[in-house]
Amino acid sequence: MKQYLSIKDISNLQIAIDEAIELKKNPYQFEQLGRQKTICLLFFNNSLRTRLSTQKAAMNLGMRVMVMNFGDEGWQLEFEDGIIMDQHKAEHIKEAAQVVSQYCDIVAVRAFAELKDKQEDEAEKVLRGFAKYATIPVVNMESSTAHPLQALADAITIEEHNTVERPKVVLSWAPHPKALPHAVANSFVKMMRQHQAEFVITHPPGYALNPEITNGCKIVHDQEKALENANFVYVKNWSSYTDYGKVLQLDASWTMTRAKLGIAQFMHCLPVRRNMVVEDAILDSDKSLVTEQANNRTFAAQWVLKQLLESL
Ligand code: CP
Repeated sequence: MKQYLSIKDISNLQIAIDEAIELKKNPYQFEQLGRQKTICLLFFNNSLRTRLSTQKAAMNLGMRVMVMNFGDEGWQLEFEDGIIMDQHKAEHIKEAAQVVSQYCDIVAVRAFAELKDKQEDEAEKVLRGFAKYATIPVVNMESSTAHPLQALADAITIEEHNTVERPKVVLSWAPHPKALPHAVANSFVKMMRQHQAEFVITHPPGYALNPEITNGCKIVHDQEKALENANFVYVKNWSSYTDYGKVLQLDASWTMTRAKLGIAQFMHCLPVRRNMVVEDAILDSDKSLVTEQANNRTFAAQWVLKQLLESL
């Protein structure tokens, strides 16, 4: 593996899951692999899990870690080619990415969608800018349209907690007061398309995800019907894709409740708004897998970094 920008960079998802579970059993078995290698984690947006789990994963592999909150502390970056840089942006991505490549062996980048301009977000200028101009492997720690480290952790969690041959997995939209990106849902859908499962997406009108990503997926607008006989329910808010970046409604009837969850196990990437997205009664019960998902972020990242280190 030369980079990890998307779930598609994993050539065999089942092997990745199995190997990540093995890493979890003995996290320090490859401690020599990253000796004298450095990873730089660049954050253009906030994080708790991604920052700490990726750092932990790198340390488990013996790597040195540098972290920079680029959004607050770095120079404002220009991404346009050929532009006269006479405004507020002080540094071009060409120099920034090449300079970062001098200091480390792998660079990981977090840069969310701004949710103002669909085309601009889908251009993934920050992630693709680093991928184009860095001379070292690039890892996506959540970009405008994808969160592949989260999706791999989710796949590991489903594998560990599944008890049936072909589980039913439901991705359900939930209300949220702020406009949120589509990245987590997109990557979860892409991951589920490769998984041996009955996969159903449910959302209110106006909240269809990018049809190029959900093409061929079963979409049921009646949430109650979608949830019937579910084994895993993944709840996530996303803003409208068609009316791009807008919050169209806050319909509390879409909040996940203990009654609606039934026998299913509950998943969410976190952070989560209690009693808006999901009831306390789920999060505070043994039905919730959210902490285990967060724990598996370390082993998802560790599997990815191991592949990259092995191909340096
Ligand atoms: N799930 C996730 O990516 O969490 P953070 O935003 O806290 O990193």
